[in-house]
Amino acid sequence: MNHPEGMPNATYIEGKALAAATRARVARQVAVLATEYSVTPGLAVVLVGADPASQVYVRNKRRQTIQAGMYSFEYNMPETTSEESLLQLIEELNADPRVHGILVQLPLPPQIRVAPVLSAIDPSKDVDGFHEVNTGRLWNGGNAVVPCTPMACQMLIEHVRGDDLAGLHAVVIGCSNIVGKPVASLLLRAECTVTMAHIKTRDLPALARTADILVVAVGRAGTVRGDWIKPGATVIDVGINRVECSSSGKQRLVGDVAFAEARKTAGAITPVPGGVGPMTIACLLLNTLGAACRQHGLPVPGDPAAADSPTNGNAARHCAT
Ligand code: GUN
Repeated sequence: MNHPEGMPNATYIEGKALAAATRARVARQVAVLATEYSVTPGLAVVLVGADPASQVYVRNKRRQTIQAGMYSFEYNMPETTSEESLLQLIEELNADPRVHGILVQLPLPPQIRVAPVLSAIDPSKDVDGFHEVNTGRLWNGGNAVVPCTPMACQMLIEHVRGDDLAGLHAVVIGCSNIVGKPVASLLLRAECTVTMAHIKTRDLPALARTADILVVAVGRAGTVRGDWIKPGATVIDVGINRVECSSSGKQRLVGDVAFAEARKTAGAITPVPGGVGPMTIACLLLNTLGAACRQHGLPVPGDPAAADSPTNGNAARHCAT
């Protein structure tokens, strides 16, 4: 069912604008931290190899870290780097007091196992929230560092729906460790009824049509069609897929949701680009600020929700302990 005659299309969830506001807030907090406590958060980003998409992400992270007034430490390692060398660097960064956050850009080359690398990062510096201490705490309702993309999804949902999501049915399509599983955990903590689904789920369209909140992170362009959407639903499209435009031959970015169709039925929807993507880096800055404050035993300036919690305040509001 489309919107009734005369009804507007879905509200765009303006990730770009919310991200800009969040970055500006972090920059103000960083300035207070420097003035009042002489602490400047530092983020180390490690890139192994020369994957073009990863290079773009890392460049954007560096630029925005510096713009927020933080220190950025960048490590570019060759494609042939051994697991041992990477572990050695992580050990050094764990011990470096100027570094409050460590991010190893994924994917890694095949000779390096992801699990030992993520486990080697000090959990208090794990601004990705991928260490098993943080993933465990997230599921157990403890004080976790929340992964950036899932935190971005929750902030975007709350931006349009308010922060009372209790009782809503959230369907999460895609069950990766980076997005799907932690998003499901966060929405469960927000008292949604959560269904995790994936590409093998039977009758996925019918399930999706029961969702008040639909989060899609499958990495395949146009997977979710317009007739999968419940009228008025909030749709969060995490996908970033490069496709060739048939008329111009140029590449463009699209999400996992067939946007032109979905916006006719959804109540609110994130665009791609300009939705989840920009918010993800803003959440990385929030996590780095939080990590720096925690490591110095300081409250996050101007954020009472985060002051007594090692978890980022925005995503921690619904924590059950
Ligand atoms: N590659 C794609 N997304 C991410 C992310 O959120 N963190 C890291 N470290 N690598 C990624």
